[in-house]
Amino acid sequence: MFYFHFSHPETNWDWDEIDTQNIHFPNSFAWGTATAAHQVEGNNTNNNWYDWEHQLDRDNQPRIHNGDKSSIAADHWNRYPEDIGLMNKLGVDHYRFSIEWSKIEPENGIFDIEAIQHYRDLCDSLLKNDITPVVTLHHFTHPIWFENIGAFEKRKNIDHFIKYSEYAFNNLKDLVPIWCTINEPSVFVSQGYFNGIFPPGKKDPVLAATVLENLLYAHTKTYKHLKSLDGGDQVQIGLVKNIFQFDPLRRWHILDWVFSKVLNNVFTQSSLDYFIKGKSTFSLPGMVRKEMENNDAIDAMDFIGLNYYSRMHVKGQANLAEPFIFAKRAQDIQTDMDYALYPEGFYKALHTISTLKKPIYVTENGVADRGNNIREIFIKRYLYALNKAILDGLDIRGYFYWTLMDNFEWAEGYKMKFGLYEVDFKTQERTLRESSNLFVNMVQKPGTDSRGYIVNIGDIAPNFTMEYTTGERVTLSQLKGQVVVLQFTASWCSVCRKEMPHLEKDVWQAFKDKGVKLIGIDRDEPLETVIKFQKDMGTTYPLALDPGANIFGLFADKNSGVTRNIVIDQQGKIVFLTRLFEENEYLQMIEIIKSLL
Ligand code: BGC
Repeated sequence: MFYFHFSHPETNWDWDEIDTQNIHFPNSFAWGTATAAHQVEGNNTNNNWYDWEHQLDRDNQPRIHNGDKSSIAADHWNRYPEDIGLMNKLGVDHYRFSIEWSKIEPENGIFDIEAIQHYRDLCDSLLKNDITPVVTLHHFTHPIWFENIGAFEKRKNIDHFIKYSEYAFNNLKDLVPIWCTINEPSVFVSQGYFNGIFPPGKKDPVLAATVLENLLYAHTKTYKHLKSLDGGDQVQIGLVKNIFQFDPLRRWHILDWVFSKVLNNVFTQSSLDYFIKGKSTFSLPGMVRKEMENNDAIDAMDFIGLNYYSRMHVKGQANLAEPFIFAKRAQDIQTDMDYALYPEGFYKALHTISTLKKPIYVTENGVADRGNNIREIFIKRYLYALNKAILDGLDIRGYFYWTLMDNFEWAEGYKMKFGLYEVDFKTQERTLRESSNLFVNMVQKPGTDSRGYIVNIGDIAPNFTMEYTTGERVTLSQLKGQVVVLQFTASWCSVCRKEMPHLEKDVWQAFKDKGVKLIGIDRDEPLETVIKFQKDMGTTYPLALDPGANIFGLFADKNSGVTRNIVIDQQGKIVFLTRLFEENEYLQMIEIIKSLL
């Protein structure tokens, strides 16, 4: 137990110590929202979920909370022009949505031209509004005829999915650069074949394993097939994987560890191994053990989509009929769903998914919060976790908030409120939730370039007041009329130390009498350290203090590094930016300074 405890520590960050606001995402980062057809479109009367919503269970109870039915949902089918307007207001530039197979192919082999045209129109409108369409081919729903022939329970049925995918691809490929094949195989399987709360409502571990294998196989085959089609090499195609971690409730209890491990393997690791090694084992001891093998699966994706919400705490018990249960902890912040907030888990999941060695899109992340109590905390902390993973160097290309507006939340019906926009389902009126503004602010905040800068050449430099080691206070705007060179530095930074003698000679000594002001700004160190630093370096240009790196944070992401130089012309405009001490760039800077004089 000690071994597990120390080798798998539970990550808990001290949120009182963390500044979640001072983060920046790369300029190139894709920001989006996500939806799924059946949850928002309305009038999906020909798929497995329609059937399910209209059935009663063995106890004559409705399948869906409160007896809700998706019916016209958020009427997105008709209101998508208005909804694109809502996306524009958020400032997002991507939209992930699913297309409804049961509308496109209502009968086996018969395709509905109007339905596919609808999706073309949607994509057209998105593109006209500078929003990139991202299509999911299967998001939990499929036609009743497909369900009736056994859906993904039978390997041979996969050809039907491929035919539909090919039809959709050929009709939309000129408009859609990013494609997701299947949404969350593990969730589809655990809810539909293990817990029995999604259609087809079975509780059959052996069948669950078969369906999971078939879905992973279906992704692989679809991926290969679409890539082989004309235009296949022009688009990115990936799978969407949900990661939900299972952690031991009692860290000293072997049963909790064992069941957590089993569940993590079944839910996540077996799927990842399938694509990393081309083989994996799906094992629920005493119930099912399945060896899955498919060499074609290795590398069979251009990106991986990660959906992350939370984790579960597992408590093992000496009861053969129910060997484990999920338990809540009093200290956790609960969402309206059956799980708590766990941003640290999001960070961990990003690292886990990165083992696939593919570019990552966060294809879903959001919170159900009817009372608007925790959405702000959720947004702050989960985006902080995302940012931290990006700073670790993970190749994360974008983030899709789940979800644009309130919707039909599957077995939970309309009870769950995941939307950035609140929907009044009587009037279909959409209103931005106050708590969503934090997301909007982050989307609209200036992004960083590849070197961590948030300012650009051509910008007017942000104004600030600094204090030199001598106690003299200077405001940048007072220096107008001179060329100002700011060097962000620190005593612990070896590259800064290398650069400083050169700056002293080539900038300060060379131009200080010709209208150039060189100022070193020391990143967040106390006065004595900075004075000693200056003495050690033997430099004579002024050094200013920057407690909390607040001045630094006006120019670059606070989490990025020094040394960097900012050249500001006589009018206060930024004309050059350097990072590290690279000879060519440095020489270019000297030339720029000369040209300004
Ligand atoms: C699904 C969404 C769902 C969301 C929130 C994800 O597992 O892909 O359709 O609404 O979770 O529960």
